[in-house]
Amino acid sequence: MCGIIGILGAKDVSQPIVEGLKRLEYRGYDSAGVATIQNGAVDRRRAAGKLNVLVDVLEKDPLPGIIGIGHTRWATHGAAIDANAHPHATETVAIVHNGIIENFRELREELTEKGRHFESATDSEVIAQLVCAYMSEQMSPAEAFRKMLSRIRGAFAIAAIVGADEDLILVARKGSPLAIGRGDNEMYVGSDAFALAPFTNRVTYLDEGDHAIVTRGGFEIFNEAGEPATRQEIVSSVGDALVDKDGHRHFMAKEIYEQPEVIGHTLSRYVDPTTGALHEAAHAFDFKSIDRLIISACGTAYYAGLIAKYWFEAWAKLAVEIDIASELRYRDIPYAENGGALFISQSGETADTLAALREAKSQGQRIAAVVNVPESSIARDADVVFPTAAGPEIGVASTKAFTCQLTTLACLAIAAGRQRGVLSEEAEGRVISALMETPRLLAQALQQEDKIEKISGDLANARDILYIGRGVNFPVALEGALKLKEISYIHAEGYAAGELKHGPIALIDEQVPVVVVAPSDRHYEKTISNMHEIIARGGRPLLISDAEGIKNAGEVWAAIEAPTVDPMMAPIVYAAPIQLLAYFTATTKGTDVDQPRNLAKSVTVE
Ligand code: F6R
Repeated sequence: MCGIIGILGAKDVSQPIVEGLKRLEYRGYDSAGVATIQNGAVDRRRAAGKLNVLVDVLEKDPLPGIIGIGHTRWATHGAAIDANAHPHATETVAIVHNGIIENFRELREELTEKGRHFESATDSEVIAQLVCAYMSEQMSPAEAFRKMLSRIRGAFAIAAIVGADEDLILVARKGSPLAIGRGDNEMYVGSDAFALAPFTNRVTYLDEGDHAIVTRGGFEIFNEAGEPATRQEIVSSVGDALVDKDGHRHFMAKEIYEQPEVIGHTLSRYVDPTTGALHEAAHAFDFKSIDRLIISACGTAYYAGLIAKYWFEAWAKLAVEIDIASELRYRDIPYAENGGALFISQSGETADTLAALREAKSQGQRIAAVVNVPESSIARDADVVFPTAAGPEIGVASTKAFTCQLTTLACLAIAAGRQRGVLSEEAEGRVISALMETPRLLAQALQQEDKIEKISGDLANARDILYIGRGVNFPVALEGALKLKEISYIHAEGYAAGELKHGPIALIDEQVPVVVVAPSDRHYEKTISNMHEIIARGGRPLLISDAEGIKNAGEVWAAIEAPTVDPMMAPIVYAAPIQLLAYFTATTKGTDVDQPRNLAKSVTVE
């Protein structure tokens, strides 16, 4: 989603701003731009499309200036065209904005009536117009910025520069993250520490409702009430090297193949390999005194939560309520008095997940978060944080973050079982040794690459594909369908195998492949019966199972062999074939695998 970078530099900044924007590319965007100040005037270059288009524009028409702001835009209001790209500017002000201004229509009307002329279809332009209007009423830039903040409603991270001042960036944050970075006689602002990493690791995050006045000499932060506020400077651990593809064609491929390693890293945070028991770190949340656990997240992270529900119920006998965050946050939930709530997020910035977390917190729930970015808003708002060690995930489609979330969640469910006296020490040892097997088994599953690539060649021609699974593998079917549709643009749906007869079976004909996720577990026979119902109607089943399961299934259209795995751990291992299936189907179709159309990595608007 939109990315912001701003620099108060010692020399020309447009080039380093573009470098910063490159590090935000992974978030997903459809246009980009830079604005600087020179000789007391704001100037800017903007371009729809990828950053290399902006780079070409800047080469042909350079943009000098030692102060500037840059932006990658993921369109919300107004098409992805040059005129809607940020920075938005008036004669004296340029701004970049991440988020949505909900009351932009009424503000735009008001400003138009006063004679101000708008040149874009965006909600963001009202920010520049408001600041400019207030400055023309003789307010200082900081006063005008503050007044603008008091008028807008919605979610935002904003950075602004004003034409007469080459030593001032004004920033604000509400709902979307924003960080200030301190350099040597240079200052930076950006959407996250990852964007700032090439310049500095001294990072201060604004809190909700904060705004700040940034100059080369330092910065002053004010809270929502306008009072001076102190926010802690952290030394960010984010590396400055741009993560590369390590010889793979796409980040997604690299991240799929990295999984055995990063699952291992994640395990080492929570499991002591010498004793085969959990580390204290896995016990940081008190699961004993809660009667019910609410789990919430979005997209793939939500599917990780769905799988974890089976684990918490089986190993800890803990009642779990799970909902997607965009629904949970608006429900009138009768929260338990001593309840716990667990939120899952790779980025730690997903707007709906963050809002659901804050709602649960305001209702007195104790909050745990499983996040991949330890400095993120969700991590900072949670009472207890369980980091995953997936490392930066650049491909928009989540892969290694998903399996690392599962690994962490499995450890938490085991911890809950131990704390609640439901899982014996011996059972803990058994479950953990099955969990410790998953990196090796997942690596083995990845060896089916050639076979999966061949099958994907056929899948690429399908218009619709169904995925089915049962029990702990039902969410794997949901995740398989999501992965496929987001990167190959083929319509896919996941269903609980038992639900097929209640509607979706009407879709089956010889054109519709059905991916059947069915390891040899206690549900195997039932799922295979469902598969035969598909065959009887001319459907094309692609069975993903272990050797035994494939042998006993009868004739199928195609099969992918997965290693034999403990039934409860199957989702971690079966993630590999479903990810590769989506990946190769997309590469066969030639889509933009790492940055699929319309998608963003970090979804910071609701
Ligand atoms: C799908 C995908 C998304 C994310 C979702 C939540 O491949 O990546 O569905 O899982 O947007 O994002 P995070 O985990 O950052 O909260």
